[in-house]
Amino acid sequence: MTMQEFIQKTKSSIPKDAESVFVRAPGRINLIGEHTDYNLGLCFPAAIEQSVSMLVCESDQMKIVALDRAQEYPNSSNEKPDWMVYFEGVYKVLEKKIGKVNPVNVYFSSTIPSGAGLSSSSAITCAFITALNELYQWAFSKDQLCSMTVQAERNSGLEGGMMDQITIFNGIKNHALLINCKNWSFDSYKIDFGEYGLLIIDTGVKHKLVDSDYNLRSRMCKAITAKLQAKNSMINSISDITTDEIAYYSQVLNIEEQELFCYVIEENNRVIQMKEAIVQNDILCVGKLLFEGHDGLKTKYKVSCDELDFLVEFAKNSKGVLGARMMGGGFGGSTIHLLPLAQMNQYMEKISESYYKKFNIYPHCFPAQIEDGLRIVEANSIRE
Ligand code: GLA
Repeated sequence: MTMQEFIQKTKSSIPKDAESVFVRAPGRINLIGEHTDYNLGLCFPAAIEQSVSMLVCESDQMKIVALDRAQEYPNSSNEKPDWMVYFEGVYKVLEKKIGKVNPVNVYFSSTIPSGAGLSSSSAITCAFITALNELYQWAFSKDQLCSMTVQAERNSGLEGGMMDQITIFNGIKNHALLINCKNWSFDSYKIDFGEYGLLIIDTGVKHKLVDSDYNLRSRMCKAITAKLQAKNSMINSISDITTDEIAYYSQVLNIEEQELFCYVIEENNRVIQMKEAIVQNDILCVGKLLFEGHDGLKTKYKVSCDELDFLVEFAKNSKGVLGARMMGGGFGGSTIHLLPLAQMNQYMEKISESYYKKFNIYPHCFPAQIEDGLRIVEANSIRE
């Protein structure tokens, strides 16, 4: 459902005598810099056109409706839909910060495929907190809201970083953000690949234990950092280590830890190289870095899976395709491919057929369109 369709559909639900806010929050892609955010390193994401549309209205009773799933909470069966955890995460943060929050009615719908590694959950969290901030005129700044949404998602169980939320709040049309996760600062770079375009392929699979495997990586990186700190108390994260220092610090790590440690340092370097390739318009290098990133995620960080590897292998064997890699947390989700625009339709057909033959499901493919970050739409002006 587009934002316009969403507004048409929900217009009649806007109460006449209560305040309401519409928000659009996008999903995100990531060019490179995976699993670096919670390691206080670098990443290079961008907001996309697929988004969550949300209407939040003052009310004396709580009600949340997921329009495209025909689910609502509370409901007669008293079963909590899986998306409730994101709303509860926001409430928990707010209650700690400002006390009890009044009930609201929420209507939302999303065009971001869920479980695809495109931040569909962060888009809900960011949209909700922004709508409440607007509705109740709390005047939290964008940075404060961003940091609260990071906390809110941690409340919902994923010990994640801040890449998704920073991108959703700050995305710029046709630009990627090079984020330094150490201090949350970022610079934007225009993305214009000319005759080439980015294609997203959602494997349609989400393996079990996604959150616990992700959390396991994040905890192992904390344990690695503790070992590094024992050698040098100035170190705050793996991202403080340079390539030249890898050998020295590897001495205190076991083999498994060494792989994660090296991956993070190499991936931070790839982000810098990606920035240079983009500035120099070196499209071949952009593609090469995508393949290298995948290799690191597969062999060192070990967060890939057969479906993701299959799609990347297909890209490697396809003439004209410059690069591909898995994107997001891993263990399923999506891949990002760089290929000539002229080849896009044919490639989507070929890779879908081949994937279907192997895994018996058709993947969801769509070209990535980089869009602006979160926007508030005045509800009063659209009230019927
Ligand atoms: C998930 C998390 C992000 C980030 C990526 C991996 O999408 O939400 O914070 O860690 O995985 O790069």
